[in-house]
Order: sequence, then structure tokens, then C-alpha cells
Amino acid sequence: MLLLGIETSCDDTATAVVRDGVHVLSNVSTNQDEFHAKYGGIVPEIASRRHAALLSAAIDDALARAGVPLCGLDGIAVTAGPGLIGSLVVGVAAAKALAFATDLPLYAVNHLHGHLFAAFLEREQPPEYPFLALLVSGGHSQLVEVDSPVALRVIGKTRDDAAGEAFDKTARLLGLPFPGGPALEALARDGDPKAFAFPRHRADAGTLDMSFSGIKTSVRYFLESAAGKDARREDVAASFQAAIIDVLIDRVARALDANGYRALVLSGGVAANGALQSAFTALGERYGVPTFIPERRFCTDNAAMIAAAADRRAAVSRTDARTLVANPNLAFS
Ligand code: KG4
Ligand code: ZN
Repeated sequence: MLLLGIETSCDDTATAVVRDGVHVLSNVSTNQDEFHAKYGGIVPEIASRRHAALLSAAIDDALARAGVPLCGLDGIAVTAGPGLIGSLVVGVAAAKALAFATDLPLYAVNHLHGHLFAAFLEREQPPEYPFLALLVSGGHSQLVEVDSPVALRVIGKTRDDAAGEAFDKTARLLGLPFPGGPALEALARDGDPKAFAFPRHRADAGTLDMSFSGIKTSVRYFLESAAGKDARREDVAASFQAAIIDVLIDRVARALDANGYRALVLSGGVAANGALQSAFTALGERYGVPTFIPERRFCTDNAAMIAAAADRRAAVSRTDARTLVANPNLAFS
């Protein structure tokens, strides 16, 4: 199945053409960082206006790069939620218009399912079921048990900030530019992860839930203290990053202790973090479970992952262009 993917849930205007949910014929993405940087975060109104300005050309670009005419597609896949409503509406309206104009099937995709199925892109050997996915992005942090493409269950989640949000907020405390995650990782590379012991959230009995706001707050108090004023920012960044990674790895290990999985998947924007990737791979080796981490360009928001999820979940994601609406709070099911 040859699908056009459209992703505009946040601030990346992304389109892609993907064959069979695996082979990426084109993957186009324009980030809007330069428009949001001076505000230190994403401004929803700016994001939706940029999508409206860029999306038509991005669709043409994805088709041209893939060498596929619109009539050569088998369907159109679009992110229907969760995300920013104004941003989502731009992608959904474009996808519906294309579906009406071409009579092609339309597939509505949950953005988080997209992150999960990013692990299948450009892989000869996909993860086997059941697998456990650690999904860590700017808006979500959760552990998902995946028994089949249509049987997915959240078995642990953050109680407050998402891991990416903690990276972004702490990066701001350290005076780093937006988006904070990659900048903080770069700074941490020259730091000592053991320099400062920021608190790790311990799991309560019977739950795999996690919390990251305490780590972020303790970095803030530390930076305001006398010791913090003299501390090397590299060491603070590395110690913060180590604390986040410890919590994430602890929950994956607990899930592995409780259940047998045939594969481990790491996905979402924070999965681009090299130190997290190393810790995750080492954990998989310790448990003898193969690990799958999407290529960096498929970790952060992209449209290839939306086409991949639509393909795997075609039976449930097929929708009606007359009734599809963007849903900023679309449930994970
Ligand atoms: O999945 P994504 O592109 O968008 C959402 O769906 O949220 O994730 C973006 C998040 C941001 O918080 C960003 O700072 C974080 O992923 N991120 C990173 C890295 N690259 C992106 N966090 C830590 N290290 C990175 N290298
Ligand atoms: Zn995302």
C-alpha cells in the first residue's frame, strides 16, 4: 500500500510517501523553530499559520521526491490528534480535501501510534509482538504494551511533566536556546553525570508511573543556591540528563521483570537522545531482548511514521472524509 502521510499536530509541517508502512520514498519536514525561538516555546497561533502557509507545497514536494503522482497513491493518512487544535485542523482539512478530490481512502492516525510504528520504518526485520515501547516526547511519556497493531495498552505514564518537557524547561533554566532537548544533550556531553545527585522519582508499589517535575524543580533550586552559581553548566546538564534517564530505564526494567516481551521499542522526540539510546540498548542486552530505535529523523515528529501507523492499523484507522474532525485530546486506544 502506497500512502501519503500528513503530520501537523504541533510545529513541524511534515509530509511523506511510504510503501507498505516500511519503505520511505520521501520524507519532507519543515520545522518552525526560528519563528518560536524568541518566545522560548511554541506559540499555537504562529504554528497553525505556518502550517497553512507551507502544507500545500510540502504535499507537492513529498509526491515529487517520491516520483509518485497523486493518482498513484493508495490512500491518505493524517494525524487526527492529539495536538494543538489549530495545527491539527490544517492537516486534517488538507487530507479531507485530497480524499474528496481523488476518492482515495482516508486514514485517521493517533500521533502517538505514529511514534510507535516509527520503529518499523526502513527495517528488514520489524519488532516482533508482543513488544514494550517507551514513548517519550514533548507532550507524553508512557510505557505501552503492544500485543498487535490494534491491541495497545498504556501500562505506565508520567504523573506530571513529559520527559521532553522537563528537558525543555531545564534547558531554559540553563539559558539554552529553544528547542531545549538537543541543546541540553550537546552541553551534557562535556559534563560529569555524577557531579550532582538530583532526585530520582521512585515507583510506587504496583505502578509503573513516573514523575519528572521534581528533577526539574531541584535543578532550579540548585542553580539559585550558592553552590549552583559556581557549578559548571555542563555538569548540571549531564547530571539532570542522567536523572531523567535513570527513571525511564528503571520503569522499563520493572516492566521487563514483570512480563515477557519479544522486543523493546524506544520512540518519540526524546528517543533522539544519544545517552538514553545507549542506556536503552544496554538494558535490552542485559535482558536479552532486541531493541529498536528509529533513525533520528523518524524519532522527532515526521509524517512517515503517520503513514506507517495507518498501514499497520488500516482496518481500524480507515475513516470517512465527510465526518473526520481533528481532536486535540484524541484518546490513546
Ligand atoms: O516527538 P516530538 O518531536 O514532538 C512531540 O510530539 O512532543 O518531541 C519533541 C521533544 C521536545 O521536548 C524536545 O526537546 C525533545 O523531544 N528532544 C530531545 C532531543 N531531541 C528532541 N530531548 C532530549 N535529547 C534530544 N536529543
Ligand atoms: Zn510527537
